Amino acid sequence: MENNLNKIICCIGAGYVGGPTMSVIAMNCPDCEVNVVDLNAERINAWNNKDLSKLPVFEPGLEKIIKKCRGKNLFFSTKIEENIAKADIIFISVNTPTKKNGVGAGYASDLKWIESSARQIAKFSKNHTIVIEKSTLPVKTAETIKTILTSSEQNNISAIDHKGQTFSIISNPEFLAEGSAINDLQNPDRVLIGGDDDDSINLISDIYKSWVNPEKIITTNLWSSELSKLVANAFLAQRISSINSISALCEATGANINEVAKAIGTDSRIGRKFLKSGPGFGGSCFKKDILNLVYLCRYYGLNEVADYWEQVVDINTWQQKRISSLVIRNLFGTLSNKKLAIFGFSFKANTNDTRESPSINISKNLLQEGAKLNFYDPKVCEKDILIEFNEKIYRNNVLVSDSALKAAQGADAILVLTEWEEFVDLDWKHIFEVMRKPAWVFDSRNCLDKQRLKDIGFKIWTLGTT
Ligand code: UDX
Ligand code: ADP
Repeated sequence: MENNLNKIICCIGAGYVGGPTMSVIAMNCPDCEVNVVDLNAERINAWNNKDLSKLPVFEPGLEKIIKKCRGKNLFFSTKIEENIAKADIIFISVNTPTKKNGVGAGYASDLKWIESSARQIAKFSKNHTIVIEKSTLPVKTAETIKTILTSSEQNNISAIDHKGQTFSIISNPEFLAEGSAINDLQNPDRVLIGGDDDDSINLISDIYKSWVNPEKIITTNLWSSELSKLVANAFLAQRISSINSISALCEATGANINEVAKAIGTDSRIGRKFLKSGPGFGGSCFKKDILNLVYLCRYYGLNEVADYWEQVVDINTWQQKRISSLVIRNLFGTLSNKKLAIFGFSFKANTNDTRESPSINISKNLLQEGAKLNFYDPKVCEKDILIEFNEKIYRNNVLVSDSALKAAQGADAILVLTEWEEFVDLDWKHIFEVMRKPAWVFDSRNCLDKQRLKDIGFKIWTLGTT
């Protein structure tokens, strides 16, 4: 169904959420003009690059949409002011990492980018504007945005230009997962729209109805929508920590984690998804959202609830430590002057995003034991790997290669930390030949053919199996 909406949409933030989400909206609503703005000029230039392999976000299916819509009804620009001014609808898709300092440090989200976006909207918008929270946010952030927007007339020296400036705040959290973002956006399980202004909710629903079955559009009040996003991510992450905790028990008892996951996952009450054990969850959302939830619970004095959810993060850290420890143990208790190849640096396959990647912590644990690491990732560039190891103690012991074979040259062990499909079909025989013996493979994603590697001569450890 195609609606004649004829709206001008602006999205502040051209990152992993803003870029793909706006591309899919532009593709499905050809009569809307979609402007994605960002203060990072380098990022905007990359979005405008003629060479589509140089887009700042790698996401299967994205290039095709950019090719179709860019320059027609989808534009990437640093002109924040003018695009806010002409927008009917503004999505805020800026980053909201965990605070490093001050009140709530280590738990609460840093809302300084949200605040600055709201201030920009207050300053430049005209007439009636629907402001949509897209970024993952702590509950009640809409209130902060509302306060900034509604106090704008008093604070704004150019308030005269803004006569009649009115706003509706809507929460429309994103549920896309990186690596499958385009499919998730195109075929969502549900679209959640929270707010208290029916006209605005209806308009945003109409946009999604251009391609989403109306039955999948859920409307709630603002706070339910904001909280649902945190809770959805907490539940998903909880499943991963649950299965990861059992992976250790499988190794101890001789059970097989894949068999256990299958056996429990076929119970329709449990379900099959998010039961793949691995080196712990990464990505920009899970840890941040759980810590936000923990912070919120503590704020309301719900300490038992906070402790319960915090365990999900604790198990995740424990799993990463556990993997580094057993690598060290198997390599005769010392990594001093040993070379290890790390296969995979993105936090999961099919993305170039490295935020909170388990590879980072596991690698640091190994470096602290004196190892020399050589990384290979099919999509993460050298700069984005090296930036994680800037400290002096790591710098001289980290190399990045442009092939798996080169990374494995002279190595004592290979650690598979991301489940990239190409790792399965590597020339493992050749890799074995260039390694020091005994040559180890530690498969933390359970993605390789264990028997084949054993037959070649590798010593192999796979997560959750014996
Ligand atoms: C997540 C949510 O899935 C998405 O709905 C939300 O909008 C953002 O956060 P994302 O972080 O992009 O998406 O990827 P996801 O597929 O959820 O994976 C997160 C992490 O969990 C990855 O490190 C992945 O490897 C790990 N994971 C996932 C497992 O270890 N096992 C699984 O079974 C699933
Ligand atoms: P996400 O995964 O949530 O999309 P990213 O970090 O990939 O997060 O993207 C967020 C983007 O928002 C960044 O490119 C950043 O430069 C941009 N940004 C942050 N604050 C502002 C702002 N006030 N105006 C414009 N862009 C902003």
